[in-house]
Order: sequence, then C-alpha cells, then structure tokens
Amino acid sequence: MQSFLKVLSTMAFTEDAKRLFHGRGGYYSGSEHLCLDWFSPVLLLTSFTPLAKAELTTCHQAIATRWQECYPERPLNLVYQYRSASETVTELLEGEVPEPHIVTENGAHFLVHLLRGQNHGLFLDMANGRQWVRHHARHKKVLNLFAYTCGFSVAALQGGADEVVNMDMSKGALAIGKQNHLLNGFTAGARFLGHDIFKSWGKLKKLGPYDIIVADPPSNQKGSFVATKDYVRLIRRLPELLAKQGEVLLCLNAPELDTAFLRQQVTEAAPALSYVTRLDNPEAFNDVSAEKSLKVLHYRLSETDSGLVKPEAV
Ligand SMILES: C[S@@+](CC[C@H](N)C(=O)[O-])C[C@H]1O[C@@H](n2cnc3c(N)ncnc32)[C@H](O)[C@@H]1O
Repeated sequence: MQSFLKVLSTMAFTEDAKRLFHGRGGYYSGSEHLCLDWFSPVLLLTSFTPLAKAELTTCHQAIATRWQECYPERPLNLVYQYRSASETVTELLEGEVPEPHIVTENGAHFLVHLLRGQNHGLFLDMANGRQWVRHHARHKKVLNLFAYTCGFSVAALQGGADEVVNMDMSKGALAIGKQNHLLNGFTAGARFLGHDIFKSWGKLKKLGPYDIIVADPPSNQKGSFVATKDYVRLIRRLPELLAKQGEVLLCLNAPELDTAFLRQQVTEAAPALSYVTRLDNPEAFNDVSAEKSLKVLHYRLSETDSGLVKPEAV
C-alpha cells in the first residue's frame, strides 16, 4: 500500500469529478486493489480486496492528513467501499455525503449516489467519450443505447445536438437521467425510453435515422446483456439505424475481451461500418495493459453504403 500513500502525499483535488488514484491500472505495486475518486465534496476510497482494520485506518489517516494540508478549513468527507463480484460493503468513514449530491464535469452537472451500490451514477472513465460526443453532436440526432443516467445525452445537448433518444431498461436510472437534464437546463430535446433494447428495434428504427449512435452496454448482466453473445446481435442492427455517414461509439468495459473481439464482431456483422479509431481513456485511468481497460471504438458508416444491410433474424 506504500505506493498509494506516496501518491496521496502530493495529491491535488480539482473541482471536477475525477479518479485520483487508479491502483487497478497496475502501475502501483502493492496497491493494485485500491482506487480513490473525487466526487466533490466527497472522497471515495474503493478496495477490491477486503481491507484489514489496521490497513483501512492507515488509509483513512493518510487521506485525512493530505486533506488537512490542502484544506485546513474544510471538513473531510470520506466514503469507503469494498467490492467483489459477490459483495459490496459501503461505509461512511468521516463527514457526510450531501443529498442531493451533485458533481461537475466539463461544465455539466450530474447527480451521484455514493452510498447506494457499486454504480455511482457517473462513470468517470467515460469522460473522454462524453467529451467526444460533446464535440461532434452539433445539429445531430443522437441515439444513446444503454443510457443509464444519460451522461452521453447531457453531453450531446451541451454540444448542440438537435435531439437525443435515450434507451435503457432501468426506469430508475432513466429517472435520474431526466433529473440530470433538468440540472443542466435541458427541458426539451431528449426522449427517455425504458425498454429492453433487444425488444425495441422497430421503435428505434421509427425514431431514426441517427447521425450518432453510442452503445455502452454492461459486459455481463445476466438475462439482459452478455457481451460474448449479445454484442454481435446489437452490432448487426446498427447500419439500418444510421443516417448517411453516421458515426458510432462502441464501448466495452470487460478486461477479458479485447479490441480485437469487438472489431471482429463488426467485421462479421456490420461490414458497412469502417473503423476510425480507439478513443484514449482519461490519463487518470492509465493501465499497464491497455486491452484490459475500457475500450471505446469509433466507427463510421461507409460513404458508399446506404446502411440498409438486412439484419438476420435474432
Ligand atoms: C454500463 S451501464 C451504461 C452506462 C452509460 N452509458 C453511461 O455512460 O453512464 C449499462 C446499462 O445498460 C442497461 N441495460 C443492460 N441490458 C439492457 C438491455 N437489454 N436493454 C436496455 N438496457 C440494458 C442497464 O440497465 C445499465 O443502465
């Protein structure tokens, strides 16, 4: 854990929400299990192995010391979460968590909830994806698949999108998404459809075509989306939803599946899509193994293609 304590001793806190320490990236020997996130005004310490009491106390004290050095006048708010595949334990170690808890990123405001489960409402590693959408959305019609709390939709409207269609089967996540739009002053321009994407192709097609499609599914959500078998079913449908020269961001956050997996699926199921590039992840998420970290691939519908590739029955 020494490497975490060393980084912590010179750590600076910005205004925007961001990852401050990414042990998971493998650059800090002995601290691979630890991450520290800043959701102003709260710090979130996450461990992927259970911390012994003494270890947690050492982390807590070191964080408190650094906080005191930076902000002697401000109280520390610190949440600890231990998470594994089967268990999530969350504990408020010091201070408090505001309710509602609103954080900023690139001029946008988002609701987060650190004391409720593993997903906090804003995926910090997707910041560059949101930035890409913000930069490319002007006068565009955007489809945000697996929208969750609609971060991409807010970014698209910030960037001047004409319209965004958000779809996610979690109505609770979409309800937070609606609030995120209101927080940013967007009272129109977005639809929120609480459906299973695989049962909604007709509806999605009717509302299209789209200039930009973002697909950011879970890697393995039993009964809803399992990347190894379902990503190809999704990719096959994309060309018919796209406008001429439409653009796609395909996202994959599964360490066990690499870019080659995704590219192969596109080659097979949607050859009309041309690979453009892989977006960089935020620097804070640097990983010794780039293939294990979040993958965001940018594709464009080939100019020569009408997009009307007949999808196989699924
Ligand atoms: C990784 S999160 C999406 C994150 C989001 N794109 C963002 O940037 O914050 C995955 C989402 O997919 C949704 N989901 C999973 N399977 C689905 C399906 N078959 N149809 C619709 N939504 C689904 C979940 O409810 C969850 O909100």
